[in-house]
Amino acid sequence: TFEQKIKVLLKQMTIEEKVGQMNQYNGFWDVTGPAPEGGSAEKKYEHLRKGWVGSMLTVRGVEQVRAVQKIAVEETRLGIPLIIGFDVIHGYKTLSPIPLAEAASWDLNAIKKSAETAAAEASASGINWTFGPMVDISRDARWGRSMEGAGEDPFLGSKIAVARVQGFQGDDLSSPTTIAACAKHFAAYGFSESGKEYNTVDIGTSTLHNIVLPPFKAAVDAGVRTLMNSFNELNGVPATGNVYLQRDILKGKWGFNGFVISDWASLNEMITWGHAKNKREAARLAALAGSDMDMEGYVYIEELAQLVKDGVIQEAILDDAVSRILRVKFELGLFDDPYKYCDEKREKETVGSKKAHEAVLDMAKKSIVLLKNQNKILPLKKEGQKIALIGALASDKNSPLGSWRIAAENNTAVSVLEGMQQYKGNELLFEKGSEFFIGDSNFLQEVKINTSNKSGVKEAVATAKKADVVVMVLGENGFQSGEGRSRTELDLPAIQQELLEEVYKVNPNIVLVLNSGRPLSINWADKHIPAIVEAWHLGTETGNAVAQVLYGDYNPSGKLPMTFPRNVGQVPIYYNYKNTGRPTNKDNNVFWSHYSDVEKTPLYPFGHGLSYTTFEYSDVILNGTSFKIGDDVDVSVTLKNTGKVTGKEVVQLYIRDLYASVTRPVKELKGFELVKLKAGESKTIHFTLNKETLGFYDNDGTYVVEPGDFKVFIGGSSITTLETDFKLVD
Ligand code: IFM
Repeated sequence: TFEQKIKVLLKQMTIEEKVGQMNQYNGFWDVTGPAPEGGSAEKKYEHLRKGWVGSMLTVRGVEQVRAVQKIAVEETRLGIPLIIGFDVIHGYKTLSPIPLAEAASWDLNAIKKSAETAAAEASASGINWTFGPMVDISRDARWGRSMEGAGEDPFLGSKIAVARVQGFQGDDLSSPTTIAACAKHFAAYGFSESGKEYNTVDIGTSTLHNIVLPPFKAAVDAGVRTLMNSFNELNGVPATGNVYLQRDILKGKWGFNGFVISDWASLNEMITWGHAKNKREAARLAALAGSDMDMEGYVYIEELAQLVKDGVIQEAILDDAVSRILRVKFELGLFDDPYKYCDEKREKETVGSKKAHEAVLDMAKKSIVLLKNQNKILPLKKEGQKIALIGALASDKNSPLGSWRIAAENNTAVSVLEGMQQYKGNELLFEKGSEFFIGDSNFLQEVKINTSNKSGVKEAVATAKKADVVVMVLGENGFQSGEGRSRTELDLPAIQQELLEEVYKVNPNIVLVLNSGRPLSINWADKHIPAIVEAWHLGTETGNAVAQVLYGDYNPSGKLPMTFPRNVGQVPIYYNYKNTGRPTNKDNNVFWSHYSDVEKTPLYPFGHGLSYTTFEYSDVILNGTSFKIGDDVDVSVTLKNTGKVTGKEVVQLYIRDLYASVTRPVKELKGFELVKLKAGESKTIHFTLNKETLGFYDNDGTYVVEPGDFKVFIGGSSITTLETDFKLVD
């Protein structure tokens, strides 16, 4: 068995070779962070040859991977193969929508398939391990990495985490088309204070156990083979050196037997945080805390062997870490055939294939959310119309690819303009308006926004005047969200807002196609613009997906996975908030929980999304009124398509536990189902609530189910009103 083979190997390894397995180097391209001192390519090659490198990241393409693998296998003493990691975040070369957008589909099969497609492409390029999925819950749209997760809800986030892990890893990790997944960032990175990147996280046990940890636990239960820890500190202890998170919870309570990788040089950052005095101390703290592999930090490789020789760290700590790493290498089948991901023919056939394009197009359509559609302005008529398409983002082939893409070539997205040009029955008039962004945006640089150049506005207004309908593509550039892209404003950039208002003056018949990697506070647009479509950054097939939705060839069914605030001051804003002691304006005075200058509600709630048809909910029925803890509570509801076309609806079930030893949120999502109905068709949908969904983690982190009074809410968003109740008794 693998375990025996691991033992045999461990016996043959020197301390330096063991430390080598715990050392990961970037493939000579400093992409995602500054390279710590000493990171020259020569040194990396030298270490590779000595067997002092267990893994490499960002090396890609069969030729490159084969070259480094050959050194590991043929030139080192023990010939242990490398595991090759890569950020396959939303596709490899053929890009699917950004992860937050995919989450808006609430379509677990589609999300799983999307990860499968990404795994097929990446594995054909030599990669056998992705640094995804990111399962961090985020309630703060200021945080740029909100785009990389599944939004604000732990229940939805857990289901999506599982779908992604299964999609990447499949049923057989040793298959050449599957890759090891990595749930990141362990833990609580999404709670970085004030949404500022890399910031401190200070949260209580209730939030940690009920909100932050569930998606990680779900990923571990689904068999995720690796986890990445995070840049943040948690309650004063950097995650990389956090014994409680990694040893007690992950490897202890949850019994995780895969391995943990640090984030990029996060061992070194423990020094900057003020936790470790120097590299030696950082190595000691990280190893003891259960960080098994050091990503591009040079800390383990420089310090760990000596720490063992000095008796500061027991060799057993290394043995445990190395066993975990070797286990995953065995499971991937790398010992049987280190070159199984190095098949030039497969690379050629798979990367950028028609199948991959079809898959990402399907995912892109499913990710679109129809936020508003007054007077049924959408779908657009297919003939006899003059359509003005306005906005620099409409012809942009780069921005829709979104952030966090390393392998995809620039300017390879189908633009909205190209997508709309496929529909030839109408006259399409295109105007950029003004250029919103200065220069080419890229992964490493801040996006520069044009604040003053208004050239082009006049032409856009003149074109809009002539049109029956105006489609405006506005919002964030693909590189305005993502790592290092925290923002203090969530409005449209002033220059876009002005263009929108100028066009509105001459033709209010506007469809706003919003591009964003996070919720935006588009108040003016919500008030004035009749139709708003959230089109995120949808990847390679963006333009085709958007056009098919605008023209009604695809009926949108996406629902928001993250609340849209009215302004940045409302953030963090989320649907599963606590009631407080003063939730309403009972006495008509100011002493209640609210802001005095903005409505209490969000702009668009979690779970919101419209369709070109309408749905009616009725008859919420429970199989009783009082249940014993442990019994199944069956809930059914009838859904009817009351419109004129076939459509899909995400039926959402929420509960509220009215009184508990640790207060519970006003609503918690506990079930959902994506249902497709023809016009006029009805269906009864069944949900089961049980011990797993009716309990919560108390302040010791213990899962408890308490007797008490519960409410059940069912509908098409988190502000649904159809409700019933039941009791849970001992
Ligand atoms: O996977 C990423 C991580 O999410 C952020 N820092 C760099 C890693 C590797 O690129």
